[in-house]
Parts: sequence; C-alpha cells; structure tokens
Amino acid sequence: MWWKEAVVYQIYPRSFYDSNGDGIGDLAGIIEKLDYLNGKKDSLGIDAIWLSPINPSPMIDFGYDISDYKDIDSIFGNLEVFKKLIKESKKRNIKILMDLVVNHTSDQHPWFIESRSSLENPKRDYYIWVDPVNGKPPNNWLGAFGGNAWEFDTETHQYYYHGFTVEQPDLNWRNKDVQKEIQDVIKFWLDLGVDGFRLDVVNYYFKDEKLRSNPIDLLKGLRPYDVQIHKYDRDRKETHSILKKFRKILDSYNGNRVSIGEVFIEPPGNPKLANSYLGENDELHMAFNFAFLYSSWNAFSFRDEIIAWEKALDQNGWPNYTLSNHDQIRHISRYKKGKETVPRAKLAALLLLSLRGTPFLYYGEEIGMEDQPLPKEKIQDPLGKKYWPIFSGRDRTRLPMCWDGSKYAGFSEVEPWLPLNRNYKEVNVENSLEDKNSLFYTYKNLLEIRRESKTLKKGDIEILKSNKEILAYLRTYKSERILVLINFTNSDQDCNLKKLDTKKLEIIFDTHNKFIKEKISDFYLYPNQGIIGKVI
Ligand code: GLC
Repeated sequence: MWWKEAVVYQIYPRSFYDSNGDGIGDLAGIIEKLDYLNGKKDSLGIDAIWLSPINPSPMIDFGYDISDYKDIDSIFGNLEVFKKLIKESKKRNIKILMDLVVNHTSDQHPWFIESRSSLENPKRDYYIWVDPVNGKPPNNWLGAFGGNAWEFDTETHQYYYHGFTVEQPDLNWRNKDVQKEIQDVIKFWLDLGVDGFRLDVVNYYFKDEKLRSNPIDLLKGLRPYDVQIHKYDRDRKETHSILKKFRKILDSYNGNRVSIGEVFIEPPGNPKLANSYLGENDELHMAFNFAFLYSSWNAFSFRDEIIAWEKALDQNGWPNYTLSNHDQIRHISRYKKGKETVPRAKLAALLLLSLRGTPFLYYGEEIGMEDQPLPKEKIQDPLGKKYWPIFSGRDRTRLPMCWDGSKYAGFSEVEPWLPLNRNYKEVNVENSLEDKNSLFYTYKNLLEIRRESKTLKKGDIEILKSNKEILAYLRTYKSERILVLINFTNSDQDCNLKKLDTKKLEIIFDTHNKFIKEKISDFYLYPNQGIIGKVI
C-alpha cells in the first residue's frame, strides 16, 4: 500500500517542460526533468506523478476530451516515449498515475463518430441518445460548463447527452460493451506499468434511468446549473458496481495499483458522499478531498475540514489532502497577502505534508508560482471563453513551469502556449535552488522529514484544544508522538495547549528556522510560524 505513504505531484503536461520547441510541454520534457522530482540529492523528493490526460485529443478541454484511449497524443510524444517515462521514473522510485477520463469521450472518438452516423449503428448505444419530447429535450439537465446538456443531432433527430461541452458526449455506462471496452483500457495501461489512475468525474458515470428532471433550489447558486439539485444526473447507485469491477482489475496486479476518484460536487464537497465511493474497501482506494481548496486562511476553517474528513472515513478509508489543482486558483494566490504570502505558503506546505493521509501537490506550488489572470485574447480554456469577463477560466492556474529567468523561463525555446508569470524572473526553480530559505526548501525538508517518519506517514491524528488562532495536532505511532503547531496569524501567539502531558519538544522542523534541533519548553509561536516537534 505504497500510496498511503506517498506524496503525489500533479503535472499538467502541456505546461511542465517543452523538449521539442513547439511551445507545449511533452513527455520527453517530463523525462528530462525527473531528476528535479526525485532520485538526486537536490531533488524535491516526491513519490508519484499524476499526469493530466496525455491521450490523443482535439484538445477542446485540453485532453479531458479523449479520441483514443490507447495511444498518446503526438503533441506529448508516443507510446515509446511513454514507456521510457515509466522506465526512467522507476529508476528514480517515482510511480506514475494516469488520468482516466471515461465519463465522456471526445466527439471525435471513432465510437462517437460511428454512434452518431445512424440509429442502427452497433455503437449507437455507446452514448446516451433519446428522442425529443414534444420537440424538446427530455428533461432539464444542464451541462456543468453551461448550456443545455442535450444536443440535437439534425441527421438522426435524437438528442445526445453531454455533461460538459458539446464536444464531450457522455458514454452510456449501462451498455455492457462500453464497460468491457473501458476495462480493456484500464488493463492496457496497467500492462504498460502504470501504478494507477485518477478517475475524472467518477460520480457522473451513471444518470437516472428514467431521465427524471432535477429539482431546483433557487437559493443554491447563481448559474442555472448551480441552482439544480443534481439528484438525477450524478451519484447514481449503479456506479458502485462499475467501481467494484475496476477494483478487481487493479487488485489483480499484485494489489499494488491505486485509484483515486474525482467526486465532482459543489464546494466545499461532502466527505460522506465522496467516501461512499470507497465501498467496503472494494471500490476506489481514495476519493479526492477538495475541502482545502475552499478553506479560509484561519485555524478553525482547516481544523473543521480535517475533523469532518476523518469522521467520514471508516477504518479502511484513507484521507488525502490537496491545496491546488488544474481547475482551481492556486492556493498561494488565494491566500496572497503582501509580505505574508510566502510565509503563508510555507505554513500551507507544513499542513499538507504533516497530516494523516496522502498529499497531492500541484506542479509549481513548491516554488511559489502564482496564478495570473489572462487578457481575453490569450484565453484558451472553453470555460473562460464562455464566461468571460464574469469568469476568465482556468488557464491562469496552468501557466508554464518557471525553470529559470531566461527568455521563456527555461520552459521552451519559443513562445509558450500560455503566457508566462509576470514575476518568473524572480520566482523560478533556479533561484529557488540557490536560496536555502526558499519555499522550495521548505517543501524539500518537509518531504524528507515525512519520508523518514513512520509517525507522519502512518500515525493516528488527534486535533488538540488550543488557542483558536493556532492549529495543533498530535500524530502518534507506537510510542512516538509528534506535535504540529501552526500559527495562522501575523502576531505572536501563546499556543495555550490543553491536554498535553509534556512541556518539552524536540523541534524537527520550523518554518522560521529559529528552533531547529533545540528543545523548547513553552509553546509560543512567532507570526506565521509553524513547527513540528517530537514530544519528549
Ligand atoms: C474534471 C477535470 C476538468 C475537466 C472536467 C471534464 O473536472 O478536472 O479539468 O474539464 O472534468 O472532463
């Protein structure tokens, strides 16, 4: 169960490193940068990579619209380069997780091209086709990216269902051949040596068999999509039987392959619902915990989320945490506050890497890459194009990795597909490696400490009663106890710990590098300080 002890690093492949000078990141680029991630003295020290989709795609939703499940898009390379990536990653003890996007395909997938060609085509039932009802769509379902979820096909006079863009028709999971095809896809990648999958919108696979309309709650949100209670277009019970089948396949590979599902739900998520997809330890291994993506910068907000998530798990369940991903504003930008920005990012790293559960990092967070809103003409994301200027989309969080201060930030030799961060001359990998006080070294040190500590990797967690501005928790494994203290404020704080039968800590990590290896006996924290200490 390596994944319980691993730290996963998400790469958005288009934006990591461009090895062939087309302005778009690729697999050979990732291979070139593997030493940055693990295996060398200077490496960051992560254990696994989750690759956002790399399969052939018309790139309407930048790879989340797949037109061939068993190949690699030529923008990224080919299967030979992919095999090399697996091999080179193994050498550096890095596992590889693929993005499994099987709620929908691209409308350019041969299955859909066949399916839409005629009512009688054998692949017709691979997708969700229905007759108009009184000349209209059969119900009120909407696309998560806006507009009606039903698209009328003028050739065959039926609607097909798409939960996202029109170019992303949903597969019909009630069709046994679809089930078999996708199981083959899973085996295909497992046979190539991938260590597991991140399952895109796993709770969307099944829709109500009777196609009932969703109830409406006008107070629930702003967009028409958000005022619907998604009772009938998500979270149908049939999904569980599919996940059980997936799990059997994964388990048949020596029991060491993993699945983590994106359970798509309104913020801040619902730990009970998300974890219902773990079944009785016979479905997903983990369900993504998105709560921190919406936490305010204070101790109680994070504390409540940790408690809620821990409570929602049964003894087989395993937590996970993430602060940033390719769909959300990066946390450093969410918590930006002048001079406190980097200290806050260090505390966020401390939190993420000292909790019980598998942490998911997002490329660039370790050097403090920020989001940057783009001018309209640079927007690529279909969501941004649709909703600008109300919402400028997700490109801002997917900018090219800043490797150095040269013309294109060391990412490419030509102009990258998305603009560079304005501050890339300061915030880049080269500068981070040269400055021992950089955010990068906070991550690197924490990753090393976590790797060496059974208590941090496996221990229980108990949130302690404390001064409410402080987040305090104990991690316990056998006789070892490790205390984590985080001051979310910009002022000195007395931790005021209740119920801790010790007065001594041996500090093993300190965001301020003030207490390192000393023994402290009263628990006061400086502004924006966080520490990890062994209780002695
Ligand atoms: C998931 C992905 C997102 C994508 C959507 C549709 O939410 O994270 O990037 O646009 O699914 O596939």
